[in-house]
Amino acid sequence: KDGKSPNIQQLSGTLAVAVFTAALGSLQYGYSLGVINAPQKVKNTLLKGSFEEKKHPSVVMYWSLSVAIFSIGGMVSSFLVGFIGDFKGRVKGMLMVNVLAIAAGLLMGLSRMWKPHIMVITGRAVMGFYCGLTSGLVPMYIGEIAPKAYRGALGTLHQLAIVIGILLSQVIGLDFVLGNDEMWHVLLGLSGAPAILQSLMLPLCPESPRYLYILLGKEQEARRTTKKVWLINWSLNLLFLQLFVALMMHLSQQLSGINAIFYYSTAIFTKAGVGQPVYATIGVGVINTAFTLVSVALVDRAGRRTLTLVGLGGMCCCAVAMTVGLKFQNDYSWMSYVSMAAIFMFVSFFEIGPGPIPWFIVAEIFSQGPRPAAIALAGCCNWTSNFIIGMTFPYIQVGGGGRSSLCNAL
Ligand code: GLC
Repeated sequence: KDGKSPNIQQLSGTLAVAVFTAALGSLQYGYSLGVINAPQKVKNTLLKGSFEEKKHPSVVMYWSLSVAIFSIGGMVSSFLVGFIGDFKGRVKGMLMVNVLAIAAGLLMGLSRMWKPHIMVITGRAVMGFYCGLTSGLVPMYIGEIAPKAYRGALGTLHQLAIVIGILLSQVIGLDFVLGNDEMWHVLLGLSGAPAILQSLMLPLCPESPRYLYILLGKEQEARRTTKKVWLINWSLNLLFLQLFVALMMHLSQQLSGINAIFYYSTAIFTKAGVGQPVYATIGVGVINTAFTLVSVALVDRAGRRTLTLVGLGGMCCCAVAMTVGLKFQNDYSWMSYVSMAAIFMFVSFFEIGPGPIPWFIVAEIFSQGPRPAAIALAGCCNWTSNFIIGMTFPYIQVGGGGRSSLCNAL
């Protein structure tokens, strides 16, 4: 059933190439997610001519929609992960969907040639659509080719590539690099670049042995057998329990509000009284990457459950500290350090467990039969809650922020 193939049962060169190549899709996801945060100039260009008054309520709507349209794309496409993965295989599936990423990169990269706001919004929607697919296909592929002993560590590489992508976008998004009036379209357009490299490397990657087993070993029969085995061995109750666990893990990952930080941290740091908010944002990216590496090292030893619980518990304490810091920041100036430290620690706890684990645990806990459907459902749940946070966070800030609301910071 495991479709043993001598090439990929050890941490061989082929496996390394395969995992690296797949993770380029995750890198692209991270880059697209983070790229909208730092370049304030992009926002100004996007909004130029649309609204006279910066604090007009529609500006908040317009800006949060241009951030969140990305997750709408992801929400819609995450349902198709199972279909695409099973249609031609995981490798060809990843290759096919790269067309979307390249098209999205072109739309954004060439956005100066026509109405930039329409081109960028469309490009972000298409890129979101691509990312919804890749955020399912990559963990599915890595989970299926990884030898059991390294499955956690290799599974966490999906998240590692995401956070490196976020960090890259933050650094390249600096004012003096590409985050300026002249170059912002290149900054956005570059989000399609990893897809080109990935397309060149995918032909070198082996197809998932589990997929091959089903495809080559008399497909229909194999499918029926898998289903039968699954029905006999796995009671429906157990399946619901697994699904419940998978969905809760994805919900807690997103509803923790982590992406409020990755979409809006520059504005959050401004509000918290930080002098160089863009550098604080990059600091978050660095901490984020460092703690994902910690998770790669720990996950197969410390266990998924422990890391998730420690991570969520720590995040909860940090959220309390952050609230206290922001509440008293006008009374005691040092309180802004408290909220800043709380944000950094919040991100660290996130990356220890609640960030990486949900992505690969779904591929891990479901057997071959229900796996693609479970990944699609969990992905949809992830993207829907991602959208809700991206869309509502500015409103919550405006509602709760009084005179120093995010609206002003934006
Ligand atoms: C996880 C989340 C993603 C988030 C990222 C931050 O991958 O799914 O939404 O942006 O972590 O590191």
